[in-house]
Amino acid sequence: MAEREEPVRLAIFISGRGSNMKTLVQACLDEGFAKPVLILSNSYSAAGLEWATENDLPIAAIDHRAYDDRESFEKDVQDTLELHNVEFIALAGFMRVLTPWFTDQWEGRMINIHPSLLPKYPGLHTHKRAIEAGDKEAGCSVHWVTAGVDEGAVIDQERVEIMPNDTPDALAERVLEREHFLYPRALQKAISDFLVRELQNEAD
Ligand code: GRF
Repeated sequence: MAEREEPVRLAIFISGRGSNMKTLVQACLDEGFAKPVLILSNSYSAAGLEWATENDLPIAAIDHRAYDDRESFEKDVQDTLELHNVEFIALAGFMRVLTPWFTDQWEGRMINIHPSLLPKYPGLHTHKRAIEAGDKEAGCSVHWVTAGVDEGAVIDQERVEIMPNDTPDALAERVLEREHFLYPRALQKAISDFLVRELQNEAD
């Protein structure tokens, strides 16, 4: 892994319970490759915010419903990121589509976890769609975020078998277990790539 004296300043975006966020925070504490400096949510009621507060992590809740359009919401998000000197973003169950205005400026510095084997099933209801299609396996992917929803290059994946008579909920639970295994590993890899690029840019 590319080294730097200071750990990369990481923001994690959530909208709900934040189980993936917890695994990322733990990995950062264990491995030291990044420092979670901000947990940001688009909903005040995201359960993960409570956990973050209990664990002394800085939080920001910016309710998208208070804005007339996506970009004004994103401008406040961007200001908040700058205030915390954020260098890298991990989306972890963040349920807002981001505009190119935001994704372009974070390209190469923002990743997402998606509960399907991308490029299969971008968007919602991935488990139901995989079962209905008669797929034999499902899984999860961590990918770079670009303007197209769930379209950026895949960094890493984990696979699970789809059982006969599987339900979307049962499958989601098994996939989530793999997500918790996958995301810390993929974050570490993505940050390493980011640091290599940063060093190259400095050398140019
Ligand atoms: C995960 O399944 C993730 O892949 C999807 O939303 C869910 C978030 O779960 N994007 P959690 O908030 O991390 O527990």
